[in-house]
Amino acid sequence: MILTETSDRIARIEIARIDKKNALTGAMYDAMSAALAAAEADSGVRAILIHGTRECFTAGNDLKDFLDRSSGGGPSSAFRFISALPKLAKPLIAAVGGPAVGVGTTMLLHCDLVYAAPGARFQMPFVPLGLVPEAASSLLLPMVAGYQRAAELLLLGQPFTAEKAFAAGIVTEIVPEEKLLDHARAAAAAVAALPPASVRLTKHLMKRQHAQAITAQMTEESRLFAEQLQSEEAKEAMTAFFEKRKPDFSRF
Ligand code: COA
Repeated sequence: MILTETSDRIARIEIARIDKKNALTGAMYDAMSAALAAAEADSGVRAILIHGTRECFTAGNDLKDFLDRSSGGGPSSAFRFISALPKLAKPLIAAVGGPAVGVGTTMLLHCDLVYAAPGARFQMPFVPLGLVPEAASSLLLPMVAGYQRAAELLLLGQPFTAEKAFAAGIVTEIVPEEKLLDHARAAAAAVAALPPASVRLTKHLMKRQHAQAITAQMTEESRLFAEQLQSEEAKEAMTAFFEKRKPDFSRF
């Protein structure tokens, strides 16, 4: 479900649960966290590449896991994964095709290079799910996109195109679908061929100013997220998804 491979100084993390649109379970988050830690620790690795297929990046957190966790539970595997992202010293490159929902979009705000196919469909449906944003997206998206654009994407939570993601500053470049993975791999190879300390230090310099604010925002988001996960609003939204019907929030 999470495939990893290191070659040519690139650590590759592939999300591979295509029958469920690459929805992420706790075990998959744990595998991705382990892969990130291994890549950071391996002095032979100079860049990290994350991708799904060119038709599907990820449908985000597994909604069954959310429903199960809404009855309680400790700090989640998802939180451990997203907390690791802003701390990465090495460059993280993403190739996005098809759905990139929830964390599928928010993790991109922590990537250094993001390539998207024209058919990529981004969405942060936290509000429609009765939840709140995560991965410091409530801080980073207004920063990169401007408040009004971020508010549209986060408050309405509707899917948006690769062009809109590019305009919002989430995507580096839109690449033809058939070239997506090769293009991202070539970018990873290009960064892996550069002087590694210079790459790491430059990333550090660009990120350091917001590091503390990102951690603080993730902590607050996570507190509110856990609260909302217990809510009747969230239960209605997720039950409606699996019952393939429209949710009804009129009673709240
Ligand atoms: N969690 C669990 N299962 C999921 C899932 C998720 N996040 N996303 C998709 N699936 C499952 C569906 O239940 C379906 O399973 P089934 O074949 O057993 O019925 C299968 O994956 C295919 O999904 P489907 O909705 O039929 O595919 P689609 O191409 O019509 O739509 C998406 C793709 C990603 C747009 C749609 O599946 C979706 O909106 N998923 C939910 C995304 C979401 O809210 N994620 C949480 C973010 S916080």
